[in-house]
Amino acid sequence: MIAGGIQMIIGFIGAGSMGTILIEAFIESGTVPPAHIIVSNRSPEKTRTLARKNAGLVTGTNIDVAHAADVLFLCTKPLDYRTVLDEIQHCLTPDKLLLSITSSVGVQQLEAYTPCKVARVIPSITNTALSGAALVTFGSRLCVTDRSELLTLLSAISVPIEIEEQNTRISSDIVSCGPAFFSFLLQRFIDSAVSETAITEEQATRLMTEMVVGLGRLLEDGRFSLPTLQARVCVPGGVTGIGLHVLDRETQHVFEHLIQATHRKFDVDILEVKEMFADKKNSFH
Ligand SMILES: NC(=O)c1ccc[n+]([C@@H]2O[C@H](COP(=O)([O-])OP(=O)(O)OC[C@H]3O[C@@H](n4cnc5c(N)ncnc54)[C@H](OP(=O)(O)O)[C@@H]3O)[C@@H](O)[C@H]2O)c1
Repeated sequence: MIAGGIQMIIGFIGAGSMGTILIEAFIESGTVPPAHIIVSNRSPEKTRTLARKNAGLVTGTNIDVAHAADVLFLCTKPLDYRTVLDEIQHCLTPDKLLLSITSSVGVQQLEAYTPCKVARVIPSITNTALSGAALVTFGSRLCVTDRSELLTLLSAISVPIEIEEQNTRISSDIVSCGPAFFSFLLQRFIDSAVSETAITEEQATRLMTEMVVGLGRLLEDGRFSLPTLQARVCVPGGVTGIGLHVLDRETQHVFEHLIQATHRKFDVDILEVKEMFADKKNSFH
């Protein structure tokens, strides 16, 4: 990597939902100029749209991106990794840093496939707002400086948090899937408010949105933890306590079941990825 963070060329292969979120977040953060970003995508329309919106942004083939990038985000779906890696393998020299953004492709699998430095960075839609966590797992080839430069880069759009490999799925459930899970629950609260009372959906949505934004700020500035916040709102014998009692009773096993389901799906995904890499020997260890 190039010292100073900002001077490096950052490459993205895959300009779908996550690739686009990451590119636009880095540009919006002001830390990475568009001219330092190069992007490719299987179908060209997405990169054309990005280039139209962000003057100076460079587009090219997967090989152009892999050649030019100091740090390369692989932003395809997991089962497209192998095709891309086969195509760009000759460009992945030991000085480059390759980043998997998917939970089911681990650093060891990529280290077996390439001589370059490897890490995994699992982003979140919250990074669009230059906020929320990005989950980081370093590969064995990153030196202290590489690690620190990667964390500096990610700090522009997120709070990077290092995780243990064994906690990958649960950490992703919270950080990456969490925004969808909690949006679902909040929408369910709104739908029930509309069906059970006279409030309109528009008004309930507005109130809910302001509540969530305020809640986020309270947690962010450290004034409350989740338990102290509940205790503070919950006046003994009051309405909140009645509501919390219903929630306690009716959601008791919800998250156990959710976690079991995501982990079952993860096991299947891991197997598919393993099969995809099966014929490749660990030639770079
Ligand atoms: N969505 C999230 O919130 C989230 C959060 C964390 C991590 N992730 C991970 O991010 C990864 C991508 O998810 P996504 O939601 O961004 O998927 P997506 O919207 O389908 O984007 C994948 C992109 O990869 C492109 N692509 C596929 N094969 C390619 C190839 N051989 N060369 C170049 N580009 C290629 C696709 O091009 P086409 O236009 O031709 O289809 C598509 O634009 C997944 O592995 C997911 O696990 C997602």
